[in-house]
Amino acid sequence: MTAEELDKIAEDERESSRNCRHRLHVCVAAGCLSLHSDQVKNSLEAQIKASGLESECRVKGVGCMGLCSAGPLVSVSSQDVTYQDVAPEDAPEIVQGLQAGKPVERLRFAAVGGTTASTPKKLGPVAIGISSAP
Ligand code: FES
Repeated sequence: MTAEELDKIAEDERESSRNCRHRLHVCVAAGCLSLHSDQVKNSLEAQIKASGLESECRVKGVGCMGLCSAGPLVSVSSQDVTYQDVAPEDAPEIVQGLQAGKPVERLRFAAVGGTTASTPKKLGPVAIGISSAP
């Protein structure tokens, strides 16, 4: 691969990122993966495609978010929300929530004490390079 080809890939990626409004991070580390987070990721990707939102949404597999007992976890950066116990069947509701600008309250991560919380800042996702994007 030449330097020019690498530059082209980088520019294509930057251009694609400029149009991305919603980044969905699905934990695919061991704990969440054992609870089928891979199926959650696949279902979200399929729902986004079916909704015609591929240009503005990205689904990425990420490393452990540190909240393993609440998995599978999905965080949505544009809505500053983390969802817990997500099932593949929840994908349509999550994508509808993106379109409506309203997070899915029933899936929102509940912090200790039963209150809801935004994405834990100190436990943000760590991308491990698994992505639906080229
Ligand atoms: S394995 Fe998913 S949060 Fe730890």
